[in-house]
Amino acid sequence: MKTIAVIGGTGMNQWPGLVIESSEEVRTPYGLATGPVVRGHINGHPVLFLARHGEGHKIPPHKINYRANLWALKNAGAQQVLAIAAVGAIAEWFAPGEIALPRDLIDYTWGREHTYHDGVPGTELHHIEFTYPYTPSLRQTLFEAAGAADVVVSGAGTMAITQGPRLETPAEIQRLKLDGCDMVGMTGMPEAALAAELGLEYACIAVSVNWAAGIGTGGIHDEIRESIERGMLKVQGTLVRFLAA
Ligand code: HPA
Repeated sequence: MKTIAVIGGTGMNQWPGLVIESSEEVRTPYGLATGPVVRGHINGHPVLFLARHGEGHKIPPHKINYRANLWALKNAGAQQVLAIAAVGAIAEWFAPGEIALPRDLIDYTWGREHTYHDGVPGTELHHIEFTYPYTPSLRQTLFEAAGAADVVVSGAGTMAITQGPRLETPAEIQRLKLDGCDMVGMTGMPEAALAAELGLEYACIAVSVNWAAGIGTGGIHDEIRESIERGMLKVQGTLVRFLAA
């Protein structure tokens, strides 16, 4: 059994049902991880957990220390990382409250510390392959776990990752749609690439919490309030089955 780490995002700053054994602030060569690395178990199954936005959900997407977070998890023994991400829906099939396992991504972020291969003298330069930003075998196991938990999940989709913290304009969303994106979030990169650089398996469970700007008719924040818990319950059901597999 591989050591599994879950990175919780908006709506999952804590993990209900997680029995905590230890919680440790971790300093890495890249600075402090944005939340403590929590070691615990769910129904007797060991797991690591890290709240991406920090305790109390205070750190905005562009200020998250992604390098420290992935480094800290790898150092704690993680081999597989499951990233939970609340996203806005662009594709019609991805209504608020639904979950998906995206297959691909497009990175629109800028100015973030996005690599461990920074040209430090004496280190080797690597151009990691990123054909599969989300590990196919991990996505497949998650897909099966969702099925076993009676959770409907889409096994597809391309995620746009924008800089935030503001939401997008309707024109920006139309551009993302033309680019082929089905959903939009703010934290998926550089997280996925850093996981790949460290040789970690990585998959994302995306939770649709609103229609992206200009797509829906309601207020975005009202939609988020209304749908986020429904989506997170599906995530938790899937994770319990995944850990038991
Ligand atoms: N856009 C970007 N990120 C998001 C959204 C959105 O509409 N909803 C949740 N995260």
